[in-house]
Amino acid sequence: MNEEERIVSGMPNPEDIAEGSLRPRQMDEYIGQQRVKTQLSIFISAAKQRGAVLDHVLLYGPPGLGKTTMANIIANEMGTSIRTTSGPAIEKPRDLAGLVTNLNDGDILFIDEIHRLNHSVEEVLYPAMEDFALDVMLGQGPGARSIRLDLPKFTLVGATTRAGMLTAPLRDRFGIVSRLELYDVADLSKIITRSAGILGVRIELGGAEELAKRSRGTPRVANRLLRRVRDYADVRGSGVITRQITIEATNLLQIDALGLDQTDRKILETMIFKFNGRPVGLDTLAAITGEDAGTIEDMYEPYLLQQALIARTPKGRIPTPMAWEHLGLTPPEEMQKQTIQEQRTLFDDLDGGND
Ligand code: ADE
Repeated sequence: MNEEERIVSGMPNPEDIAEGSLRPRQMDEYIGQQRVKTQLSIFISAAKQRGAVLDHVLLYGPPGLGKTTMANIIANEMGTSIRTTSGPAIEKPRDLAGLVTNLNDGDILFIDEIHRLNHSVEEVLYPAMEDFALDVMLGQGPGARSIRLDLPKFTLVGATTRAGMLTAPLRDRFGIVSRLELYDVADLSKIITRSAGILGVRIELGGAEELAKRSRGTPRVANRLLRRVRDYADVRGSGVITRQITIEATNLLQIDALGLDQTDRKILETMIFKFNGRPVGLDTLAAITGEDAGTIEDMYEPYLLQQALIARTPKGRIPTPMAWEHLGLTPPEEMQKQTIQEQRTLFDDLDGGND
């Protein structure tokens, strides 16, 4: 199944884009991520007080948590314009030059998937970020010379699902680095209730809470599921989203009580049945489940880790006793007695780990 079709995917789909109306536009409308909001609000206020441009901001975390939304809110709060692009869309240094030379002082340049910038573009970005300058080569061969063009003082907001994939020189040029976390059920319930209000959908508290529990900590998943549960409520119910309607609708979509879909369960089953709970490398998991290793790392692993269904060890990922229990199985006896830390230590001593 491709990413556009998966209802629990964190990747955007056209419906999300069409429903941009669900996105909060101001910091005080943005639910959750309290630490990030507080920090950014202070830095934004300080920059405004001084009449200075905001320092460059790097937002990172799993897909669907609101990095693009936050970039737009930053522009809104600063009272400036935002120009949006993505790492893969900037193919050549001249593409980047075209973008930055068209900005005004204080504008935000938002680069999504910034870990996918190519090397030659990155080299041009360094002086642009640091000195608001562009080094342009004139001519070729021995007669070539470089001239420095002044750029408007802009703020780069970069977003990535993989902070670890940024080169150190690029990462170091961001004065503000904020990690977005998976949302808890209480915040997701509030987001769902807010979205239902905007969409004109009637939802009970129990319905919002159940939907939140099944949205794998991700507002984009919650908003997408909300529309499908609304369809179900309209056709099979009275149009009101209740807890029972939510359970029935999500069961039909093969999403379980923890929000796991078939691929999540396949990952856990592979770890338990094929590897008997021994550490498994990411590439091995990818090969067996047919998913891309990066997709597993970005989209599946964070939630499975957050739910403590899997744990990372130096030798690979291991399922926890809760993974057995979630699949209706009994964990092996030796696992039941050990804490995760003990399991980690045990596996450290064993041979036969892989990637
Ligand atoms: N919609 C998506 N993410 C949201 C958030 N964090 N707060 C409010 N509405 C949202």
